[in-house]
Amino acid sequence: MKAFLFSLLTALILCSNGVFGIELVNADTEKKIDALLAQMTLEEKIGQMTQKNYWRGATHFEKMIREGKLGSLLNLVDAELANKYQKVALEESRLGIPLIIGRDVIHGFRTIFPIPLGLSCTWNPELVEEGTRISAVEARSTGINWTFAPMMDIARDPRWGRIAEGYGEDPFLASAMAAAMVRGFQGNDLADPFSLAACMKHYVGYGAAEGGRDYNTTYIPEQLLREVYLPPFKAAVDAGVATVMTAFNDLNGIPASGNEFTVRNILKGEWGFKGFVVSDWASITQMVPHGYCADHKEAAEKAVRAGVDMEMETPSYADHIAELLEEGKLTMEMIDDAVRRILRVKFALGLFENPYTDPSKYPPLVNEKHLAAAKEAAVQSTVLLKNRNGVLPLSKDIKRVAVIGPLADAPYEQLGTWSVDGNAQDTRTPLAALREFLAAEKILYVAGLSYSRSRDTREFPKAVKAAKKADAVLLFMGEEAILSGEAHCRANIDLPGAQEQLIKAVAATGKPIVLVVMAGRPLTLGHILNDVDAVLYAWHPGTMGGPALVDLIFGQVSPSGKLTVTFPKVVGQIPMYYNHKNTGRPPQASTWVHIDSIKIGAPQTSLGNESHYLDAGFLPQFPFGYGLSYTTFEYKDLKLSSTTVKRGETLKVSAVVKNTGPFAADEIVQLYIRDIAASITRPVRELKGFKRISLKPGEAKTVEFTLTEKDLAFPGPDMKMITEPGKFHVWIAPSSDSGLMGEFTLVE
Ligand code: GLC
Repeated sequence: MKAFLFSLLTALILCSNGVFGIELVNADTEKKIDALLAQMTLEEKIGQMTQKNYWRGATHFEKMIREGKLGSLLNLVDAELANKYQKVALEESRLGIPLIIGRDVIHGFRTIFPIPLGLSCTWNPELVEEGTRISAVEARSTGINWTFAPMMDIARDPRWGRIAEGYGEDPFLASAMAAAMVRGFQGNDLADPFSLAACMKHYVGYGAAEGGRDYNTTYIPEQLLREVYLPPFKAAVDAGVATVMTAFNDLNGIPASGNEFTVRNILKGEWGFKGFVVSDWASITQMVPHGYCADHKEAAEKAVRAGVDMEMETPSYADHIAELLEEGKLTMEMIDDAVRRILRVKFALGLFENPYTDPSKYPPLVNEKHLAAAKEAAVQSTVLLKNRNGVLPLSKDIKRVAVIGPLADAPYEQLGTWSVDGNAQDTRTPLAALREFLAAEKILYVAGLSYSRSRDTREFPKAVKAAKKADAVLLFMGEEAILSGEAHCRANIDLPGAQEQLIKAVAATGKPIVLVVMAGRPLTLGHILNDVDAVLYAWHPGTMGGPALVDLIFGQVSPSGKLTVTFPKVVGQIPMYYNHKNTGRPPQASTWVHIDSIKIGAPQTSLGNESHYLDAGFLPQFPFGYGLSYTTFEYKDLKLSSTTVKRGETLKVSAVVKNTGPFAADEIVQLYIRDIAASITRPVRELKGFKRISLKPGEAKTVEFTLTEKDLAFPGPDMKMITEPGKFHVWIAPSSDSGLMGEFTLVE
């Protein structure tokens, strides 16, 4: 009984502190909204549903605000101007409704953190939450009170430029990261002057764009939508996210910004979401080129019907809602519901009482605390992909090190995509950090290429000469920031420009080579992987990427990041992801013959009739969950609390993980399951848990996970979550392609 009372008390305390997310609906606010709605003219209601981009120097916003025709601005980053507009809204408009002001604060505001794909490789939600909080504090000081983040579009195609903005290919991990970012942005109270309203995006299925080409068509069967693409959004809703942004893509023939099934039925119906939905930029009027609407009037009708409450930038709501109401194509209930949701968030933000921003109440941007957090995030985001002969870490006593590559000293590129309020002057590049860490005479710096796409090889001889003089070579290669992000997709994901040639030219010297990659996506590294001894994948590491990489390269700390997205060997293998189905003819190493080894005139059936490529085989370059360390870890003593589990029972799974190497380090221990036979085929592995542990050399820890029936569930034939009896495999593993496997049976 005592235990029950304790857990009840704990639950009550947690709820009262908002640990379970922001509560948008309360009786007092609803009464205030009722009173406002009763006074609002239709024009004022439509005004709340209208958001405009702030164009520097524009003068028409004051009039729109004064007349109640504008409820939101985006891209206004100026506390003084924001206060001026808020004053017009509060004191000069008829009803005094404040503005909600949005901005893309995606992975930092002025202090830029690693891109979200990099942050996800920390597998550290607490760290991501802390960094997100810092971003909120910095952004809020400029009058912004709403961010268009987190983005949690599952992506299985690294050609897609926006893979950089999300958390990779797995719904379980993406859900943890999405919830962490919502908590970081929103805190425990939206009215806190350091909180931002978060916006989960892009709802839904945007990352499944055919061919990895942005804005392209998506076909996602409902079962897959519910199993892979929706869960991170549900996790954000459960974490109390205040707003949602609909996506650009056509989802199964119905654009996401006009999709009543996903927005009104699932998000607002099934999930009971009480905040508001904003379109993406012009995603409503783009339903005309989609071929879903004949004109902007029909687009406005279908978007309102679908449940899109606010229109970003385009005027279809302002131009057509009144007429659509007159024609009976829309109802005032639909309009009132949209406005109610918008007002709910404005009340929750405390904007009616505190609409103004006093920058003096905020810490200076880019302060030491913020920079330290950004550095730690960059350290934990970086993934060690290769370390031949333990060439890393380098010794600080090294006599000379050659520093080569277009990303060694590229302050703007290092920030990555969507770093709109970052400042390249704040960036600490690897070269700058090395110059602080080593004596100047030890460093031989030759860019070799002036930017990532350059094909100008004239500096190669100078780079090779530097390498020959050095004891080791640090290559900083990758992508400029512009090569990933929105609309920036690549059909060839090799290192751009002449970087591969530069690597081979330097490798010919025979010196130990450490390759550091800064990129917004997984790249295909197969052409040069054998030419280098070590690879650190830093993504675009943000403002403090340089100091973070120096700490890693010289062993102040061991790399601990693990991949949250699969690295294909060649682009032709895409889509390639770990939680794939087994097929009826799964590939076998025993039967696969490399294309170059096929005998001339080989009989038709001599090559194994399984699911593989003759040239690229069937394995990725690096799998989901993979990442090396400066030490080694031994996994042993897998234990299951039982080999049969009844419905409603829990299963405890544990293993001992030991640091068997010379270096203290963190290890991300992963829990996977596989449902061997079910009414819908199941993936060969599904991530169901992860824990980060720190181990000193020789130290061992028992890592335990608990599996419940809910963890084994999947959307069944009728789309309801079901768990079916039968055999399951379970792993405790260092990555998705290895680990200790056990077996249990779920029984009725
Ligand atoms: C863009 C993006 C979206 C962003 C919005 C506002 O087109 O798709 O992610 O939040 O416009 O900048």
